Amino acid sequence: MCGIVGYVGYKPVLDILLDGLEQLEYRGYDSSGIAVQCQDKVKVYKAVGKLKNLREELSPHAYEISKSTTGIGHIRWATHGAPTVVNAHPHTCNCGKLVVVHNGIIENYKELKLNLETKGCKFVSQTDTETVAHLVAQKYEITKNLTEAVKLATKEIEGAYALAIMHSDEPNKLVVTKRNAPLVIGVANNEFYAASDIPAFIKHTNRAIYLSDNQVATMTANTLKIEDIDGNIIEPKIEILPWEPVALSKMGYKHFMLKEIHEQPDVIRNILVDKLHSSELPIILDEVKLTKETLKDLNRIQIIACGTSLHAAFIGKYIIESFCAIPVDVEASSEYIYRKTVTDSHTLVIGVSQSGETADTLTAVKQSKERGSHILIITNRPDSAMAREADSLLSVNAGIEVSVAATKSYIAQLTSFYLLALYMAEIKGTMKPDILENLKHEMLVLPQKIEQILANKDNIRDCARKYSGTRDFIYIARGINYPTALEGALKLKEISYINATGYPAGELKHGPIAMLDETMPVLSILMKGCVYDKILSNSEEAKARNARMIALTNSSDKKLDDLFDFIIRVPEVDELLSPIIAIVPLQLIAYYIAEFLGKDVDQPRNLAKSVTVE
Ligand code: M6R
Repeated sequence: MCGIVGYVGYKPVLDILLDGLEQLEYRGYDSSGIAVQCQDKVKVYKAVGKLKNLREELSPHAYEISKSTTGIGHIRWATHGAPTVVNAHPHTCNCGKLVVVHNGIIENYKELKLNLETKGCKFVSQTDTETVAHLVAQKYEITKNLTEAVKLATKEIEGAYALAIMHSDEPNKLVVTKRNAPLVIGVANNEFYAASDIPAFIKHTNRAIYLSDNQVATMTANTLKIEDIDGNIIEPKIEILPWEPVALSKMGYKHFMLKEIHEQPDVIRNILVDKLHSSELPIILDEVKLTKETLKDLNRIQIIACGTSLHAAFIGKYIIESFCAIPVDVEASSEYIYRKTVTDSHTLVIGVSQSGETADTLTAVKQSKERGSHILIITNRPDSAMAREADSLLSVNAGIEVSVAATKSYIAQLTSFYLLALYMAEIKGTMKPDILENLKHEMLVLPQKIEQILANKDNIRDCARKYSGTRDFIYIARGINYPTALEGALKLKEISYINATGYPAGELKHGPIAMLDETMPVLSILMKGCVYDKILSNSEEAKARNARMIALTNSSDKKLDDLFDFIIRVPEVDELLSPIIAIVPLQLIAYYIAEFLGKDVDQPRNLAKSVTVE
């Protein structure tokens, strides 16, 4: 949540900051702001709302800033204080010479604020960040050195932060530091970038340094010094980044979400390419660092995740238990971390996260690691903080996902779970060879089946149009597709703000059925398999209460024509793999409904792509 950027070099800084912030808009879009060095002064510009408002705010000042080559910027997802100009970053000390941008939460800001007020500091905002500006400025009074002041101040700060700081008395210098929040430095010739995430500077350089917690980097155009807060010098380790700038284009689609939905067949192919060659050959999963003996003896798995990743985890549980006969617990990370859990060195802990940054999951993973569990991370960001905690790292390689609503990263997580479950089943010998072979064969043809769904998306669009006026939506399913119902409902909620809920179909009659009448759409996920007839009966019960019935099915059963008002048909697939097929129409329904309603599909209100606060 929140994104920060910084630049020091020889190029005009304005476009670098604004382009960088644009690439970080997925992290928040409540307000934005920049501070730039203009001769001996630091000038600050801010605006509420999306970045385009800041661009408008800046346009009359473009000439006066045009020569500036040093600056910092911020895009905000509000935590402390409403999204107003006053609360927008950068924040300044009272003399206006020191400016700071911050991602994270200063947990002891109230105590710090009281103390600073007694020393004469006047606070203007409701933010926790403003305390950092005053605190560092106080230390600067003593040290007359920005780096030293930052080191002293961070010793008093509790919480999570990535900070970029400038002081007009030390022009063309940037000091950055971090603790439990991401910060990466981009290295080019006679210029340095700093950002919460690499898309902010990847088009300028692919050479990067990941700062560790409690390290402080001081940058001018041609010098970089990294030290810890006690002053020990750290040798910078430059890494070459894998990301391509082209990944950030919409490639002709109206929204990133639609583009990312269409990328899903290739995402699956990319994951399978060097892991599943044919149905007869064993799965290759060198990323799993547990020995075969340990895997055979494993008697418990704990999966932790949030949001869409949590839904992938529920399906992971279902298939690992079915294929490998190992008990699996799944829990939302935010619940897991505040109770006494019993993971230990005999438990495999799997953390699932698209961003690899989600604070709750990261904390849960760290807790489990401390208790000696083997940590397997499934993430789309092999460069993330969570990946760095992994003993085994399954990088899903879905490419950068820009839309806040996760789509292709979900399919990639599911595909990785299937590979993992099948791999463990092969080692443990818990599946009949013909079933195993058939599932592997079916996995290899999944991309074509998704392509068929995408080729018939007009029918799904018609469905979305028909139901776009509704205020509520119910999704029902059973068994392996119950998490699909949850995920379909989450997608719709997130981007259309319609009150959508996923239920196990058998639970309908235990309460939710009271809500059904002729205004309520009920979407039944009816995949052929062991619970097909049961869901059909549950759908009959809903129809009897006059609900508006929609089927998502791979059955050609004629009975469905009388029962359902709208039918979306998808290709046949083994029930055990059906979640990968069933989710695609649900993503498209959510997308088209949001689009019909004129919502901001890629950047829905109140959300951010990576949630770095607990
Ligand atoms: O990056 P993560 O997968 O850890 O993020 C978890 C959730 O915040 C995320 O899945 C969220 O629910 C998405 N907006 C879903 O579309």
